Amino acid sequence: MNLFLETYGCQMNFADSEVVASILLKAGHQVVERLEEAECVLINTCAIRDNAEQRVRRRVRELQSLQQQHRLYIGVLGCMAERLQSQLMVEEENVAFVVGPDAYRRLPDILSRLDNGVRQAAVDLSTDETYADIQPVRLGGNGISAYISIMRGCQNYCSYCVVPYTRGRERSRSPQTIVEEARELFRQGYKEVTLLGQNVNSYRWCDGPSGNAVTFPELMEQVASVSPMMRVCFATSHPKDLSDELLQVMARHANICRCIHLPVQSGNNRILKLMNRHYTVEWYLDRVSAIRRYMPDCSITTDVIAGFCSETEEEHRDTLKLFRQVGYDYAYMFKYSLRPDTYAARHLRDDVPDEVKTRRLEEIIALQGEIALENNRREIGRIYEVLVEGTSRRSKEQLFGRNSQNKVLVFDRGAAVPGNYVQVRVTGCTAATLLGELVK
Ligand code: 5AD
Ligand code: SF4
Repeated sequence: MNLFLETYGCQMNFADSEVVASILLKAGHQVVERLEEAECVLINTCAIRDNAEQRVRRRVRELQSLQQQHRLYIGVLGCMAERLQSQLMVEEENVAFVVGPDAYRRLPDILSRLDNGVRQAAVDLSTDETYADIQPVRLGGNGISAYISIMRGCQNYCSYCVVPYTRGRERSRSPQTIVEEARELFRQGYKEVTLLGQNVNSYRWCDGPSGNAVTFPELMEQVASVSPMMRVCFATSHPKDLSDELLQVMARHANICRCIHLPVQSGNNRILKLMNRHYTVEWYLDRVSAIRRYMPDCSITTDVIAGFCSETEEEHRDTLKLFRQVGYDYAYMFKYSLRPDTYAARHLRDDVPDEVKTRRLEEIIALQGEIALENNRREIGRIYEVLVEGTSRRSKEQLFGRNSQNKVLVFDRGAAVPGNYVQVRVTGCTAATLLGELVK
């Protein structure tokens, strides 16, 4: 069958789509690049906020017109499939099957039965599925950087979050298979790998009951040792688990990215407690100081939610204050969105009016814009090693790449080519990008 894959949501979902492609190719199917050639479209979905789900529903309805022209099965995969299960096929009549994040091995079987016309659902969650033995097919990548999924699931139960329900129990993948995947990518010419998990700091692998456990800092040490020419990044870290040991390993290896994504969610202790985050503002700031102590040049990025249940104006201002204190290099900023069945949906009131959420979010966005610009201005004059990724969107004469801090630099191409490491001096900036010139 000709299959077309469409992915929404986080990096983890993009990594999962590569596992899905691998499973399907092995079963004799083809992945096509144009929707028009497809007999079946697989939509890998996100359930984290209501607008993510609405977007997928619009897409599913939009595909109806194509379905009228020729036979096209629609399968919904991922978090939304898991959350809504068969109900999704009742609500969206043109969906033929739903498959949750732990059931992708069942896809070949499901596809083989499509012609029977029976609608199918595979949504069992697993306690041990990590797809460790599956070599992901790198979809639409640049051949330079790749994701490696190191663990699945989450059991932190932040009160607003649907992920523990859609992705199940936390489980780690064996270090041997992870390091082997990194080695293979390096052999194929990749220059950067990003280790992915919902909460990478709680990565833990035990070889049998008496065996020693491998922790995340140890895993990082092993992956960073594959080659000094291969950069290693990771996401996401939970502040409660960010250890000094990890920071020490990072500081020891120049090829581990100087970049930590540390979602804060709120700058107020009462709200953090309601969110079930297990840390305080003081603890968070201590972790930020520790990062700066070990790696003064490390960039710090975050996620934040505006207008969580019962958040007051003063509590919102605490978030703005924390943003100024930390001086984030980048932030993903969201309005609180109630997710059915979470603790917050069951026990708290979503009582901040939407216009107030919007205004608070806009204030955070405006402040973050100023902070990012100030941070970038301070970079002017510095020289960075940049991994070249491709031609700039604005001009064919320019290339872009990222430094170890994960900041994008744009510069005149000179003799550089994608996949090279080059030295670039920063000469100017916007809030989002550094502009520079090659250093001979
Ligand atoms: N509403 C808004 N944002 C959310 N996030 C998770 N759940 C919700 C929700 N219900 C955000 C958090 C998380 C990021 C991936 O998405 O900031 O870190
Ligand atoms: Fe990824 Fe979370 Fe969306 Fe699932 S709900 S796809 S884990 S962002």
